[in-house]
Amino acid sequence: MPQHIAIIMDGNGRWAKRRLMPRVAGHRKGVEALRGVIRACAERGVSHLTVFAFSSENWRRPQEEVTLLMELFMRALENEVARLHENGIRFRVIGDLTGFSERIQALIRDAEALTRNNARLTFTVAANYGGRWDIVQAVKKLMAEGVAADDVNEAALTKYLSMSEVPEPDLFIRTGGEQRISNFLLWQLAYTELYFTDALWPDFDAAALDEAIASYRNRERRFGRTSEQVRSAS
Ligand code: IPE
Ligand code: IPE
Ligand code: MG
Repeated sequence: MPQHIAIIMDGNGRWAKRRLMPRVAGHRKGVEALRGVIRACAERGVSHLTVFAFSSENWRRPQEEVTLLMELFMRALENEVARLHENGIRFRVIGDLTGFSERIQALIRDAEALTRNNARLTFTVAANYGGRWDIVQAVKKLMAEGVAADDVNEAALTKYLSMSEVPEPDLFIRTGGEQRISNFLLWQLAYTELYFTDALWPDFDAAALDEAIASYRNRERRFGRTSEQVRSAS
């Protein structure tokens, strides 16, 4: 079982368009799909789930869609956090939170504080997040602390990244048919197994998740070694 699954939830807009509905209807359906995937991950003993909800580039969308997405994010924070907490789920948000309204920032702080001791599943939402932003903010913190150039190495930098407390993703899933990373967890995906599916995010359910996990289980993770070395070690 992968310990950490990272997902780019893509295809909401196309899901809605196919039904002649406004794009936001797809985003609403997407929240429902996410609820199911969180539950499925908890049931399967996955310990970390990280999802890309809003990229630092998504501000480029039409103002109306951005506004509706912010409303949806706020509603989800208001309505879903209690249920996450009841289910022993720790909730976190990574990204540049200063881009959000005061109200959203406060809801995030409260939700993180409420759920901080939950250990069943850590559910992280990347919002106003970009992989390049993450690396740059880590470098800034490192320099602000006066770390000497000679002491800069991968472990030192990792400490300042948003996901420092979380193991790197084992399995990356992108729905919606696109085969790209779109500035998601650039540093952390170095050795992650990548899985792309044409399924649109609102249609992605527990069975689709199981297919992705089955694909993952068929992979041989070599981390630079040979297949023979990996097999003799296990
Ligand atoms: C992903 O679905 C959700 C967000 C980026 C917020 P899209 O809105 O990108 O859906 P498509 O790609 O247009 O179908
Ligand atoms: C990536 O999806 C970000 C999220 C799912 C939040 P996009 O739909 O914005 O990605 P691109 O623009 O097609 O690469
Ligand atoms: Mg998209």
